[in-house]
Amino acid sequence: MKPFGATEANRRPRYRKTCLCFSAGLFSVILKMFILLTASHLQTKHVEAVQVGDVVVMFGSSAILPCQIITNDRLSQITWQRTIKGKAPDDVFLIIQPMIGLKYRNEKDFRFEFIGNFNDKNGTLKFSNPTLKDEGSYTCIFSLFPGGTPSRNSQLVILVPPITNLMDYTPLEGNEEVPLATCTAAASKPKAEVRWIKGSLEGKVREEIKETQHANGTTTTWSTLLGKPGREMNGQSVKCVISSEATNEEILETNIQVHYPPGNVNIVERSEVSYECETNANPKATVTWTRSGQSLPQSVKVVGATLQFSSQSNDLSGLYQCETTNPYGSKQAYLFVHFSSGEFCCENKTNKQMFT
Ligand SMILES: *[C@@H]1O[C@H](CO)[C@@H](O)[C@H](O)[C@H]1NC(C)=O
Ligand SMILES: *[C@@H]1O[C@H](CO)[C@@H](O)[C@H](O)[C@H]1NC(C)=O
Ligand SMILES: *[C@@H]1O[C@H](CO)[C@@H](O)[C@H](O)[C@H]1NC(C)=O
Repeated sequence: MKPFGATEANRRPRYRKTCLCFSAGLFSVILKMFILLTASHLQTKHVEAVQVGDVVVMFGSSAILPCQIITNDRLSQITWQRTIKGKAPDDVFLIIQPMIGLKYRNEKDFRFEFIGNFNDKNGTLKFSNPTLKDEGSYTCIFSLFPGGTPSRNSQLVILVPPITNLMDYTPLEGNEEVPLATCTAAASKPKAEVRWIKGSLEGKVREEIKETQHANGTTTTWSTLLGKPGREMNGQSVKCVISSEATNEEILETNIQVHYPPGNVNIVERSEVSYECETNANPKATVTWTRSGQSLPQSVKVVGATLQFSSQSNDLSGLYQCETTNPYGSKQAYLFVHFSSGEFCCENKTNKQMFT
């Protein structure tokens, strides 16, 4: 038995370790591969979202900001400037000079590392742990003689995988439409798509989607399955499919929970001297045996839901009641037993009646 809302799968997918860095050249190679491998499993989404010159990186990993030029001109310095939210446009944040290497302009942001080679006219930077605030335009400018100041630009784009969760509500059986389960894809960039595989509940439930955009550019998406909770829905499996550019498709599964009182009660003859009381209820019903309202005789035992006679003496003959109860209701059934005094032979079955 599950307590309310017990089925929760909560996890943040692991960040991809590799960085999706696309320089213009790499991009065109990838594009060609994509065209060639028409039957491949490459996801079109990834290709479409990436613009030439974009540096796309998973939140939590490093970005490579490319900067290189092929020329015979003399290079005196490489200047890096950026245009990001919260900073003046074209903010010069570092300079690379021969012999000295990297020099910060204002604050020292040690997340930048010069990994190029000045003599090769290569000013490439490695940018560790960029956050959403670092998204924007990054430009490196070569100071060449006599060639002037050509530049190279990259747009830094951060992808954030959603934090996913699937929760179910355990409503009470009824005729009103209520939420049965909610699937959440939190703080994703770009926003995640959430859909359901409804299985046997197809046609009996509908989905409702809500979205909130956060100030940092991420979006939380909730999708709720709604339906009239019927006992036949209890235990049925539904799956939530979350897809986003920042992760592989993720599937979360739960079994719908519906609470309902005991249904029909059956008394099943397990042997000449034992009778089991059965019903269907959620949560599971407790079974109480009595002898038509009074307590049971000493020689009659109850094991689980089964009534057991240790002898077949005439004085045990009579009406027995089985009551099944859960927090939402109770239901009874009756058993009439007749034993012909003391003898072990009986008139088979005909002298026992069960009714509800
Ligand atoms: C520039 O430096 C980066 C980082 O070391 C390297 O990956 C890249 O190949 C270099 N470019 C050229 C043209 O050598
Ligand atoms: C973005 O904002 C949301 C809501 O405040 C927060 O939960 C989430 O962690 C933030 N994401 C990043 C990557 O900063
Ligand atoms: C009761 O009747 C059934 C069917 O007639 C028979 O198979 C069974 O052996 C009988 N049991 C006893 C205890 O007589």
